[in-house]
Amino acid sequence: MERIPRIRLERASDRSFPSEENRTMSEIRDGLQTLLADYQVLYHKLRGFHWTVSGELFFGLHAKFEEYYNDAALKADEVAERILAVGGMPHTGIRGVLERARVQEAAGSPDAKAMVRAIVADFGALVQNQRELSGVAAGKGDAATANLLDGFADGQEKEIWMLRAFLGEAPAG
Ligand SMILES: [Fe+2]
Repeated sequence: MERIPRIRLERASDRSFPSEENRTMSEIRDGLQTLLADYQVLYHKLRGFHWTVSGELFFGLHAKFEEYYNDAALKADEVAERILAVGGMPHTGIRGVLERARVQEAAGSPDAKAMVRAIVADFGALVQNQRELSGVAAGKGDAATANLLDGFADGQEKEIWMLRAFLGEAPAG
């Protein structure tokens, strides 16, 4: 069989960063790829909650979940574009999303308050993961990634407080 020559595609990362810096940026790119998968799963999960929530809390939560899934879509877009800005290529396949994501799909048909508790848990994990990656990025001089992720985490911390108030849970500490 004729051997097909491998074409080496030059990536923006090869040109933009010297090798040491490129290795450094790859840790940030990998972290952003995982975060992108998290937001893709979260988007679908929130959209499912918007469709299937029922009971006396329906009107408030149906609207709130729509607000959240639209926000998750915007954040996925910002993360994907940050991956491009640091010389990477955002993954696009659904299988890859499920393999990478730390956010889990909803199991079964949770009731309205269980949906809210699931979102509190997912936002809490996102806050922690984004703060960690922000610290890595800041340590490597990538202030734009650090600022983007801290901005996301700041907003989600506030949402966690409001969702806990909705559930009637006292703030921790
Ligand atoms: Fe809708």
